[in-house]
Amino acid sequence: MTRQCVFIFGICFSLVTNIVGQTAVEGRQKISFNSGWLFSKGDRDASLPDRATLGWQSVQFPHTWNDKDVLADGERGYYRGIGWYKKNFRLQPEEGKKYFLRFEGVNQEAEIFVNGKAAGKHIGGYSAFNIELTPFLDPSAEQYISVKVDNSFNENIPPLSADFTFSGGIYRPVHLITTGEQHFSMSDYGGPGVYVSTPRVTSQNADVHIEYHLENGNAYDQALTIETIIQKESSSALARKKTTVIVPALQNRTVEVICPDIGGFELWSPDNPAMYYVESHLFKSGELVDNLTQPFGFRWFHFDPEKGFFLNGENLKLMGANRHQDRIPYGNALSDDMHRQDMRLLKDMGANFLRTAHYPQATEILDNADQLGLLVWEEIPLVNEVTISREHDENAEMMLKEMIRQHYNHPSVIIWAYMNEIYWAHRFKPEEELPARNRATLALARKLEDLARELDPYRYTAMAMHNYPAYEETGLGDIPMIAGWNLYHGWYYGNHEDFGKFMDEQRLKYPRRIHFISEYGAGSDVRLYSEKPEKFDFTIEEQINFTRAITRQILDRPYIAGGALWNLIDFSSERRVDATSHINNKGLVTVDRKPKDAYYLVQAMLSEKPVSEWGYSFRQQWVHAAVSPSDTLVPVRMYAFSNQKTLSLYVNNRFSAESEVKDGMAEWLLCLPPGKHLLSLGQNSTYTPEKRIETTLIPFHLKDEPTLDIAMNLGVNYAFIDSRTGLYWIPEREHRSGSWGIIGGKQLYIGDKVGTKEDILAADEEDPLYQTMRVDPSEFRADVPDGTYEIELLMVDYVRKSRRFADEDKEITYEPGRRVFGISVNGRVVEQAIDMGGSYGLNVPYRLVFRHTVKDNAGLSIQFHPFKREPVVSAIRIRSVRY
Ligand code: GCU
Repeated sequence: MTRQCVFIFGICFSLVTNIVGQTAVEGRQKISFNSGWLFSKGDRDASLPDRATLGWQSVQFPHTWNDKDVLADGERGYYRGIGWYKKNFRLQPEEGKKYFLRFEGVNQEAEIFVNGKAAGKHIGGYSAFNIELTPFLDPSAEQYISVKVDNSFNENIPPLSADFTFSGGIYRPVHLITTGEQHFSMSDYGGPGVYVSTPRVTSQNADVHIEYHLENGNAYDQALTIETIIQKESSSALARKKTTVIVPALQNRTVEVICPDIGGFELWSPDNPAMYYVESHLFKSGELVDNLTQPFGFRWFHFDPEKGFFLNGENLKLMGANRHQDRIPYGNALSDDMHRQDMRLLKDMGANFLRTAHYPQATEILDNADQLGLLVWEEIPLVNEVTISREHDENAEMMLKEMIRQHYNHPSVIIWAYMNEIYWAHRFKPEEELPARNRATLALARKLEDLARELDPYRYTAMAMHNYPAYEETGLGDIPMIAGWNLYHGWYYGNHEDFGKFMDEQRLKYPRRIHFISEYGAGSDVRLYSEKPEKFDFTIEEQINFTRAITRQILDRPYIAGGALWNLIDFSSERRVDATSHINNKGLVTVDRKPKDAYYLVQAMLSEKPVSEWGYSFRQQWVHAAVSPSDTLVPVRMYAFSNQKTLSLYVNNRFSAESEVKDGMAEWLLCLPPGKHLLSLGQNSTYTPEKRIETTLIPFHLKDEPTLDIAMNLGVNYAFIDSRTGLYWIPEREHRSGSWGIIGGKQLYIGDKVGTKEDILAADEEDPLYQTMRVDPSEFRADVPDGTYEIELLMVDYVRKSRRFADEDKEITYEPGRRVFGISVNGRVVEQAIDMGGSYGLNVPYRLVFRHTVKDNAGLSIQFHPFKREPVVSAIRIRSVRY
């Protein structure tokens, strides 16, 4: 149904197009401006035109200079400083046209020079901005542009600190936009100048309001006509309207066009993301001077403190994930295809919700959220702490305005947020500073809250808080409309069940609050597997346990409006040290976008379409060390993810057992002979999908084994499978009489977490091996046959703190004489007195490799002799060799 709106002119749209064809200005043109750039890292003055190429590198946008130095490169930190970009190009400026560059994202300060003249600046790394070129263009058509970019720390530009990498560069696309002298605003905080609202929507009809911001760049007042068409992609219009307006010379003007009572549309929802578009044409005396199409959707929503979220009148639990915008090894410079791939992963997981982590993301992300039906929480990068200064607050306000203006029209967006764990840095600040910090934070929150509500009365506001009393004590948590919680019970603290208790207490205390879980997640490393997973061990199994337990508790509580896993994808955080250095590995998929088991678990828990996926997507091997002479089978705890009631397991094409699916998962305990096996899952006797595994047994008695290769990880119950070679380091085992194993000592725990989780310098691929260790072992004994063995001992003396960031260590710390011990083999001294902390430094790995020949049936005995403090050993390998 087409509804004619209030102003109807005699000209029909096709006639208008004909007129347009005959004119000089043809509306808006937008083309990419990403190629042919030169880049130079470091400060130099490239503002003036030049054609020098020496010392300049040819680049295309998107580009960042931090794609490689944030990886495990043996150096702490990454380049935070200045970089220059420059380009010569041809553009013949035409009378009556305006030229702009649109930068989608430059981290974090940009200064633009056109033909040697300063053309504009922008502060903040996560929003788009436009720079007008017109006054600076050379009539000769030879143009030169240069951009100075700076990603140095600046206490007045959020984010000040955060658990992600602030990669510098022009890391999102740039476009050249041409319009007539009159156009939709190009100076409204990077917004399109056309803002679509739907203040009233029912399933039958809706009112659509369009706010136009017009600019007249001509020295005369100008009468303009706006033609507004509301339509679904390539189908007939739902409404058309023409409006005339006079915009004074060299001024801006705002006009509201109302299209009431529109019908004949489909509602937008995750299941049916029906998109509509407002097509706007701007005419000056019949000539098309600008045109723009903006997306929107028909939907209404609200949150209820008791019952959660409602979309189009129906209760909908919002479940999904957070997403950071980087991809190792490309830094934050992702192609649109890469962005799309991430959004597809999220949708395929059965999610209906996205939190754009801690900052506004690329247009492609928002467009995809609209088109795939994902509801969005978007926020500005105010993370961990604030600076007490007016400039800081003004920058924060500007970022909020930019985000809301730029993404206002996306129907997927339902929440604007402005602070994440803003009290996080309290613990590092002097006590006496806290009252002033709290006051400044509160005042800023109030300002941002008011601003968000004023700029957009149709959406909700939110803040993400962490488990810390100050939000309550200061009243900060009362300011936003939604209380978001980043909770890690059972990971950083407490246990899984504490999550529900914490939230139930919150609900009792704050019955009128809207509660949302803005983050929950556990880390995992696809090289670590445990039969006895535990908190903070980074095994694949513990990520599953955590994710399953917390997701269940969220789903069971109607008052929790939704939950977002932290994080969809493993992401770069240069300063972080966990099992994978410089990477936050709480992703449900790996950096190269391969689903981990937890991804399939969530898919099974959330999806309506049938799911059946094997567990252990990265693992094919199971190695078992026999616990008795009669132990000849390899135990394999196998699991699969599904939303069916039961799954049947077939081993080598024979039915093995049926298992009930509970909370997305079915499990089996198999005992298999050593060898290769084919596993398949049957539903109604179908044999797909298949999984091939290999089982290996290390016998109890080694005496009869002519060749041996035993690699044992110490101080922890997980196996480490080296992703480069497949070498399988079995979990530690204590010595059994007549067999082999470690004697004495205990696993290292710092606080209630196993191992150190420190950055083991120069051991990046093997960090998890070194991070856990046996403290105070007396001996490793193996009753091996006579022969020659290569013995490797992996050791490290560690910094004794529970959790730190890598960038705190500017230099290697030496502590001579802190820990000294000797090592002997079958009574022969191998190391008289190792002092790792003194000789090599703390957290520096020491890999001791030597050969020893066993004779006279003596077996192998490696002994540790303490001189100062306890000996430590992280892993031991014994391999028979010829000589
Ligand atoms: C926080 C924070 C994230 C961080 C995460 C984590 O709650 O908001 O930025 O990455 O926890 O520790 O993994």
